[in-house]
Amino acid sequence: MRLFSRALLLALPALVSSKAILGVDMGSLYMKVALVQRGAPLEIVTNFHSKRKTENMILFDAGTRFYGADASSLLARKPLKTPVQMSLMLGRDEDHPCVATLGERHFPVTPKFNETRNGLSLSVDNQDYTPEELVAMVLHHSKDMAQTYIGELGKDAKAAPADCVLTVPAFFTVHERRALLDAASLADLNVLGLLEENTAAALHYAMDKQFPEDQIFVFYNMGGTAVQVSVVKLHNYNMTSGLSSKPKTVGALEVLSKAWDATLGGQSFDHRIVEYLADEFNAKWDKQRNDGKKKDVRTVPRAMTKIRLQANKVKHVLSANMEIPIFMDSLHDDCALSTLMTRAKLEELCVDLIERATKPVYQALEYANITLSDVHGIEMIGGGMRIPRIQTDLKKALNDIELGMHINADESMALGAAFHGANLSTAFRVRHVGLLDVNPFPIRITLKELETEEQKKGLFGGGGKKKKDDGEEVWGKNATILKAFGKLGVKKTIAFTHDKDIHCALDYEEAETLPEGTPLGIDRFNITGVEDFAKEMEEKNLGKPKVALQFQLTDSGLTKLLKAEATVEEMYTVEEEVEVDDDEADDEASNATNTKEEEADADAKTEDAEDKKEEEATADEVNATEANETDTDANATSEKADEKPVKKKKKKTITQTKEKKRVHKRALTVKTYNVGKVQPYSAELLAESKAKLQALAKKDKERVLLEEAKNKVESYVYHIKNKLVDDEENIGKVSTEEQRAEVLKLAEDAEEWMYEDGSTADLATTEDKYAEISVPAEKIFNRVKEMTARPEAVVAMKGRLTKVGELMTKWETTMPQVTEEERGEVLKLVDDVTAWIKEKEEAQSKVEAHEDPAFTSAEVPIQIKPIEVLVAKLKRKPKPKPPKKNETDANATDTNSTNATDAEETNSTEAKDADSENETADEPAEGEAKEDGEKEEAEADPEEGESKKDDEL
Ligand SMILES: *[C@@H]1O[C@H](CO)[C@@H](O)[C@H](O)[C@H]1NC(C)=O
Ligand SMILES: *[C@@H]1O[C@H](CO)[C@@H](O)[C@H](O)[C@H]1NC(C)=O
Ligand SMILES: *[C@@H]1O[C@H](CO)[C@@H](O)[C@H](O)[C@H]1NC(C)=O
Ligand SMILES: *[C@@H]1O[C@H](CO)[C@@H](O)[C@H](O)[C@H]1NC(C)=O
Ligand SMILES: *[C@@H]1O[C@H](CO)[C@@H](O)[C@H](O)[C@H]1NC(C)=O
Repeated sequence: MRLFSRALLLALPALVSSKAILGVDMGSLYMKVALVQRGAPLEIVTNFHSKRKTENMILFDAGTRFYGADASSLLARKPLKTPVQMSLMLGRDEDHPCVATLGERHFPVTPKFNETRNGLSLSVDNQDYTPEELVAMVLHHSKDMAQTYIGELGKDAKAAPADCVLTVPAFFTVHERRALLDAASLADLNVLGLLEENTAAALHYAMDKQFPEDQIFVFYNMGGTAVQVSVVKLHNYNMTSGLSSKPKTVGALEVLSKAWDATLGGQSFDHRIVEYLADEFNAKWDKQRNDGKKKDVRTVPRAMTKIRLQANKVKHVLSANMEIPIFMDSLHDDCALSTLMTRAKLEELCVDLIERATKPVYQALEYANITLSDVHGIEMIGGGMRIPRIQTDLKKALNDIELGMHINADESMALGAAFHGANLSTAFRVRHVGLLDVNPFPIRITLKELETEEQKKGLFGGGGKKKKDDGEEVWGKNATILKAFGKLGVKKTIAFTHDKDIHCALDYEEAETLPEGTPLGIDRFNITGVEDFAKEMEEKNLGKPKVALQFQLTDSGLTKLLKAEATVEEMYTVEEEVEVDDDEADDEASNATNTKEEEADADAKTEDAEDKKEEEATADEVNATEANETDTDANATSEKADEKPVKKKKKKTITQTKEKKRVHKRALTVKTYNVGKVQPYSAELLAESKAKLQALAKKDKERVLLEEAKNKVESYVYHIKNKLVDDEENIGKVSTEEQRAEVLKLAEDAEEWMYEDGSTADLATTEDKYAEISVPAEKIFNRVKEMTARPEAVVAMKGRLTKVGELMTKWETTMPQVTEEERGEVLKLVDDVTAWIKEKEEAQSKVEAHEDPAFTSAEVPIQIKPIEVLVAKLKRKPKPKPPKKNETDANATDTNSTNATDAEETNSTEAKDADSENETADEPAEGEAKEDGEKEEAEADPEEGESKKDDEL
C-alpha cells in the first residue's frame, strides 16, 4: 500500500497536544492563517483589521515594528524601513534568482551576504536582521493574530495556538525548509509539518470528497512571485483501522509531479507596468527640468514605491476594463505622471511572461508521464491570476479544458495546512485523507573513507575507486538514494561491508528540476566507530562489519540520517542432545531448528518492521552483494535443518548439530556538519537571534503601553471637561468653587502638556500625569456618585438584615437541628452590622458635602459576609432522622440519642461526598458550600422547596 496515514513526523519537535492548530500560508506578498479547533469548523483567522489576509511586510520605526496593513499604509512614506518578501531570502544567497528579483524590481531594502553568519542579512533602521529573524517576526504576528481571534470568539483564550503547519513552495530545497523551521522556532511555533502550497490546496479540495474513479487533476497556482503546477491523482483508498473494523473508504491524493517558474508571478506583471510608468515619468521629468542632466526615477525609493502600488492597481483594473487613465500628482520633484494604460498595451509589455505562464503545465505533465487526455480537470489557485489573457492562453494550451475555480484561490492553502495539522495531531479526530507527496530533486550519497590528518590534503575528492599515492585502491561509493519525484516520508538504507571510519555526503544532484542557485551540499556526516569495531571483530576471527546507514526524506521534505550501525554476524555450531519422540522426531527436530533460526533472524525482522516505508537504494553496486550474502546465510541454515534425518520410532536421545547465528551490533558515532557558503543557523546564532527578538518584543510592548497611557490621559482630560459641564448641578453640591477650579486647571494644563512634553514623555511620566489629573477629579466625581449610592446601599443592607432576622424566626420551626444558641450567634452578627451602619451614618452626618466621606457605598455590602458564611454553614446541618420504621409514632421525640449517631455518620459520608466533588468542581468553595446545602435540603425535604427561596439573603 503506497498510501499511509501520516501519524508522526520524526524530523520535527515532539507533538504537543493542544486545542488549536494553525495553518500558516506565508505567501511572498500576503500571509493567510487558518485555524482548527476542537468542535469548530476550519476557519480563517482575521487580523487586527478584520481582514482575511495580511501583507507580508514589517515596518521598522525608531526600533518598534508595524505589521500588515499598518506597515503597508506607511510603506510609501518609509520604503527604506520596510523589508518585504522576506521568505524569498530564506536559506539562499544574494545571487539566487529569486533573491535577485528584489533588486531588479527596485525594492530598496535588499539583503547582502554576511560572512559572520554565513548567510544573508538586511540592514533596516540601523539594525541588521537575518531573513530568519524577519520571517520569525511575521510568524509571531500570525500567532498574535490567532490568539486575539480566539479570544474574540469568546472561546478558551488560554489555548495559545503554538502548533502549526506551514506551507512551502514546491521548489523549496532542504536549505530553505530548514531556514523556515529556524524562523518558526524563533517565533516559538511548534511546527507539526511543512506542506507544499499546491498539496495543501489539493488537500482542502479533496478533504470532503470521494473519488470512486481515479481522477487526475492539475493544480495551477500563480502567486505573487511564482507559478507552481502540480499533477495530482485523486482516488479512493480503503483504510483499515484496527483489526476488527471493516475497511473504510476515504479520499486520497497522490502528487504525481510538479513544475514551476520560481520568478514568474503576479508581481512580474506589475513590474512591467512599473518599468513602463517609470520610463513615461522620466521622459516628462526630463522635459520639465530640461537641465541636460540624466535623471531616473528608479533611484528614488519613495516615488518607486508609489509607482509600484499604482501599477498593481492598474493591473487589477485592466482585468475587468480595457483601459485606465493614470494620474499621479507631483510624484517626484514637483513633476506629475499622467498617461493612459490599455489592456492591449499591458499584454504587449508582458507577451513573454504570458508565454512563460503555460510552460510549467507541460513540464509537469511530462514529469508525470501523462498527456492532456489523462487530465480530468484543472483547478486554479493563487492570487496572481489577474491577467485575462493568461487564462485564455492556458485554456487554449489545455485543449479548451474548463479552468476550474472550485477552490478558494486565496485561502485553500492555509485551510489545507490547518486540516493537515489536525490530521497530524493526536489531539484531533478528523476525517482521514490519504496524502502522498513527492520530492522533485534527486539526492545522491557519496561515501569515502574519513580522512586521517595526514591524508587530509585533498587527495581524493569524489567517490569511486581512485588510487592512493602508493597505488592502493581508495575505497569510495556513490549512488542516487532519492530519485526525482520519489515519495516523501520514505526511508532508505545503504548497506555495505567496510572496516574503516566513513565520511558520508548527501548532495543534490545536478538535475533539470533543481532550481538555479541551489547549493548542492546538503549534509556531511563523519561516521566513526567502524574501525574500532572492525578491529574487535578481527580479534575474534570474525569478518568485516556490515555498515548500514538509514536515511529518511521526511514528510516535510527534510533529509535525516536515522540510524548508523555496524553489524557482524557470527555463525557457529553447537552439539545439542535432544530427547525426541521417535514418531514425530523429524518434525520436532526441524521445528526446533526453525525456532533457532527465527531467533537469529529476529533482529533483521524488527528492522524490517521499522522500515515499513523503506526501499532499498537502487544503487546495485552499493548493496546488491550484501543482500545476496544474507540470502546465502539463510539458505545454508535451512538446508542444514532439512538435512537432519531422524526417523526412528521410539523415544530416544539424539545429538544434533545446530548452526546458530550471533549478531554483533554497534551503534556508530555520527558528527553532522554543513558545507557551502550559506549555512543553516548555528545554535549560537539561534540564541543570539532569540535574545534580539525578545528585546524587540519588549520594546513593542512598552510602545503599546505608552500609547495606552497617552490615550488614557487624553480621554481623561475630555472626561473632566465634559463632566464639569454635564453634571454641573450635582458637582456643585459636593465641591467648592476652588476644588472645581483646581480640577479644571489640571485638565487644561495636561492638555497642553500632551502636545508639548507629553508627546515624547516615557511611560512612567505619562502614568504620573494621569494620576495627577485623575486623583482630585475622581474624588469629586465619586462624591457625586456616593450622594445616591451610599443611602441606597444602606437601605439595601437594612433590608437584608431584616430578612436574616425573619429567617432565624422561621428556622425555629423548619430547622430544629439549628440550636437556639446558633441562631443567637447569627442575630448577634446582625446586631453588629446594624451598629456599624449607625456609627457610620453618624460620622457621615458630621462631614461636609465637599469633604471625603466617612464611608462609601462599596464598604456596605461586604459587612454581611460573615453572616452569609455562618448561615450557609448552619443550613448544611443535617436534619434529624425520622424515627425508625418499626416505631409507629412518627413524631416520637425521644429517639434523638440514636439519631444523633446516625446523623453523625451521614454527616461524615456527606462530607466525603462534598470533598470528592470539590476535586472536580472549579467553583470557589463558598459557592459550592451553598450549592451543597441546597441540594441536601432538597433531598431531605422536597416540600421545603419554597422556603428555600426565602432563605436567599
Ligand atoms: C552579520 O551578522 C552578524 C551576526 O548575526 C551581525 O551581528 C552583524 O551585524 C551582521 N553584519 C552585517 C553587515 O549585516
Ligand atoms: C474498497 O473496497 C470496496 C468494497 O469493499 C471495493 O469495491 C473497492 O474496489 C475497494 N477500493 C479500493 C481502492 O481498494
Ligand atoms: C510513460 O508511460 C508509458 C505508458 O503510459 C510507459 O510505456 C512508459 O514506460 C512511461 N515512461 C516513463 C519514463 O515512466
Ligand atoms: C569530519 O572529518 C573531517 C576530516 O575528514 C574533518 O576535517 C572535519 O573537521 C570533521 N568534522 C566534524 C564535524 O567532525
Ligand atoms: C560515482 O562513482 C562512479 C564510479 O563508481 C564514478 O565514476 C563517479 O565519478 C562517482 N561520482 C561522484 C559524484 O563521486
